[in-house]
Amino acid sequence: MSFKIKCFVCGRETNDNFTDSCPACGGVLTIDMDISRMTDADPKKLRKRPIGVWRYAPFYPVDEKGAISLLEGGTPLYDCRALASDLGMHKLYVKYEGANPTGSFKDRGMTVGVSRAVELGCKVVGCASTGNTSASLAAYAAKAGLKCVVLLPSGKVALGKLAQAMFYGAKVISLDGNFDEALAVVRQLAKEGHLYILNSINPFRPEGQKSLAFEIVDQLDFRVPDVVVVPVGNAANIWAVYKGLSEWISIGWIHKMPRLIGVQASGSNPIAVAFRSGRQDFVPVERPETVATAIRIGNPASGKKALKAIYDSGGLATDVTDEEILRAQKLLGKREGVGVEPASAASIAGVMKLRKEGQIRQSESVVCVCTGNLLKDPDTVINNAGKISKCKASAQAVKRLISE
Ligand code: F0G
Repeated sequence: MSFKIKCFVCGRETNDNFTDSCPACGGVLTIDMDISRMTDADPKKLRKRPIGVWRYAPFYPVDEKGAISLLEGGTPLYDCRALASDLGMHKLYVKYEGANPTGSFKDRGMTVGVSRAVELGCKVVGCASTGNTSASLAAYAAKAGLKCVVLLPSGKVALGKLAQAMFYGAKVISLDGNFDEALAVVRQLAKEGHLYILNSINPFRPEGQKSLAFEIVDQLDFRVPDVVVVPVGNAANIWAVYKGLSEWISIGWIHKMPRLIGVQASGSNPIAVAFRSGRQDFVPVERPETVATAIRIGNPASGKKALKAIYDSGGLATDVTDEEILRAQKLLGKREGVGVEPASAASIAGVMKLRKEGQIRQSESVVCVCTGNLLKDPDTVINNAGKISKCKASAQAVKRLISE
């Protein structure tokens, strides 16, 4: 396994293992993997190993021997026939990332990122988070025996995520500010050497998240879908999907790139706005707001990468209202028995909107990435669900209620 750490913007290589941005231009970093030796390999041979992030070990810039793993990935790809029929589509799949060890896709990046931290001999890891990154980092830090610090925007982190970060023994700090402000603080701490940063601006994180794309293709028996829909917050995940697929195209394992569609909440939509005006860069949203707190982000650190993924794949970015998100969340639960958190339902809401607008065609096969588990945010579920029926402890009373 050989790789270089390079600037995504100016292309300059860096040997500084601890910086989170290009020393020359300040741009976001990426990893250039040398995977040429995989060209002659048979992709199906990988299947000797169980499905999961580490099935694709040759594609990551860390040595698997030292991997910190909780057996992440290998999540279901549901063929959602009822929902597809509701939306007038031939094929609609949901990649259910809620089945990961800490209940979100973050575990894919974290197994690689924390393995890297251990390789580098770090003792303290940290992140800013809207919730899921902190839950995941706390668990992987526990597994690796590292000290962990997480910075959370006060009052805006869903209960399940907060519980997880606290439970796994992280130092949980509730910051008087939003995610963008928390990220600036943690970057400063990392720069001063107080911790190793494991937000997705750390280029090792998206490397692990490439596995999401690898698994989708693998589960479809190497038939690449026409469209992949991803909720966008800090904007690294859609880039990771693009990067993984690009790598497999470069070694001839697959022959087409799906259209990548990024979906944001309308109160936190800088990438959707940039796409609508055809820009390569975006203007941050000052005060992001949405019920989908996981993607309540106004200044996505990997925004430029996301826009490249979207433009290069012939995809698009759109935004959906909180109402549309909650409606989609309920519909997925009711029609398919699949429970996801609001940010994840944004991808379903996006498909519903784009089908109406005719921007996704009936014949296209679509994979929606549903990034996090329903139970991450029980408050939103309970606030938007129907009422509970109260009843005396008698069969007669229950029968009356049932027949109502
Ligand atoms: N869906 C969920 C459930 C998330 O938690 C996030 C990001 C995203 C989608 C967006 O992914 O940032 O790569 O575009 N959550 C981060 C966190 C910001 O701190 O947990 P992205």
